[in-house]
Amino acid sequence: MSEEELKIPVHVAIILDGNGRWAKKRGLPRNMGHAEGCKVVERTVEDAARLGIRYLTVYGFSTENWKRSEDEVGALMQLFRYYMKRLLGIAKKNNVRVKMIGERSRFARDIIEGIGRLEDETAQNTGLTFVIAVNYGSRDEIVRAARKMLADAGAGRLTAEQLDEQAFSDYLDTAGIPDPDLLIRTSGEQRLSNYLLWQLAYTEFYFTDVLWPDFNKDELIRAIEKYNKRDRRFGGVK
Ligand code: IPE
Ligand code: IPE
Ligand code: MG
Repeated sequence: MSEEELKIPVHVAIILDGNGRWAKKRGLPRNMGHAEGCKVVERTVEDAARLGIRYLTVYGFSTENWKRSEDEVGALMQLFRYYMKRLLGIAKKNNVRVKMIGERSRFARDIIEGIGRLEDETAQNTGLTFVIAVNYGSRDEIVRAARKMLADAGAGRLTAEQLDEQAFSDYLDTAGIPDPDLLIRTSGEQRLSNYLLWQLAYTEFYFTDVLWPDFNKDELIRAIEKYNKRDRRFGGVK
């Protein structure tokens, strides 16, 4: 299938995985795998924008990833600081709007400010929306949403009758973003690791053994080609 013939999914979600194994295979420290992985995220944002994908959501750091060694968490935070700055340039060049999901208050103050700046300065861009999930966990997101609903109910702003699936979605970090059409997970693992549990209800899954630092545009197109051959049903019949 040529690139022109591909039906491009509106929203692609990615669980990037395998940075550590990529580094280990080369006798390098895990952090080198993360550094390489960040470069691949950058390139994937540009590839997705050029392919006409409207939303790209990437899992960068989970609520569970704090359990990693202090050294690894520290290195990830440093990479985050560096790439946030670079991302601003890339977003401006490619008309990309950046949005972060997850619970950001646990990050250092400069990172929180950096996130705010990235979102504010790219808010008017009209091309790809690049969503980064950091300190993100789906259960945490749902519990935070439930707390907000309870607070609104207590204040008389929400009744049980008003709470339907749409209203519930609007309390999630992903409010206003359509559900993913395609989920890609690299490195051969076939689990969700607490990612977008509500939003992936009818998403097509694509698993590949490729380690994230080896992911590229050809791999992205391969995933989209596979997606093109799927028979999406949403519970109905064809
Ligand atoms: C994904 O790569 C990046 C993050 C979760 C931050 P991993 O660090 O999980 O790499 P593996 O799974 O150990 O190979
Ligand atoms: C999921 O990858 C989280 C991110 C990609 C940020 P992990 O490597 O942390 O997931 P598990 O531990 O293998 O499930
Ligand atoms: Mg992993």
